[in-house]
Amino acid sequence: MRVGIIGHGTLGGAIAEGLRTCATVTSIESTTKRTSARNSEVVRASDVVLVCVKPYDVQAVLLAVSDALTEKHVLISTAASVGIDRLRSWSQRNGRVVRVMPNTPARAGAAMTVVARDALSCNDAIEIARQLFSSLGRTIVLNEEQMDAVTAISGCGPAYVFVVIEAMIDAAIALGIPYADAREMVAQTVLGAAALVLRGNEHPAQLKTAVATPGGKTVRGLIELEEGNLRATLSRALRSSAG
Ligand SMILES: NC(=O)c1ccc[n+]([C@@H]2O[C@H](COP(=O)([O-])OP(=O)(O)OC[C@H]3O[C@@H](n4cnc5c(N)ncnc54)[C@H](OP(=O)(O)O)[C@@H]3O)[C@@H](O)[C@H]2O)c1
Repeated sequence: MRVGIIGHGTLGGAIAEGLRTCATVTSIESTTKRTSARNSEVVRASDVVLVCVKPYDVQAVLLAVSDALTEKHVLISTAASVGIDRLRSWSQRNGRVVRVMPNTPARAGAAMTVVARDALSCNDAIEIARQLFSSLGRTIVLNEEQMDAVTAISGCGPAYVFVVIEAMIDAAIALGIPYADAREMVAQTVLGAAALVLRGNEHPAQLKTAVATPGGKTVRGLIELEEGNLRATLSRALRSSAG
């Protein structure tokens, strides 16, 4: 499969990097704003076209390459907030147009990508998108109506987790641990906790209870978190990002 990436920026670059290890990808060509005169040429030389430009650039890019797109192409857009209907209209293509929402951990091969489908989506195009993005991390397929929620949870989510990581590092430093050690301890703790959640079917509440010895130190901290309204604040933040 030949892949063309229009917009070799932060995400396009991470995708290009991740796809290098994807067995089904035979070639990757990409463009940036400076080399955008080659966009149509790259489309013609590709089976799958990934549009990774900023949302406000998507319309101009698709209108400019629509003549080069054929029914054989799978067109995948990563742009936040640009619906499949608009992608179809601007590209003048129908079923083989796919909208995806990856996140910044794609840069570390640990992306969470949601592939959006609607009533007109072709199964083969959805499957191609799912396979390609699986080389960057985990991938699931959801209905397009859920993309506002997806944007909040996995798109904005890393920013929330970075705040938690930063706050835990600050606290570790306040407790006398040097920054470099604190950074490693906190990041690995977050990674390890997430790995446990993904490993089996245990509910996070069960995993939390397993850490909290009755009458011990963990539970004292957990009560502080409840009194600080961490849950309600996170819930409000996520619903606000989805709005
Ligand atoms: N970053 C993420 O983790 C992430 C996560 C989810 C979704 N997204 C979505 O992915 C898209 C890209 O985000 P990003 O963070 O990667 O942005 P970015 O770093 O600014 O990259 C955008 C790239 O598009 C290029 N470009 C602009 N106009 C072009 C044109 N006409 N033809 C070819 N290339 C063109 C830019 O070229 P220059 O470098 O020359 O300006 C740049 O390399 C956005 O729509 C965003 O909503 C990003």
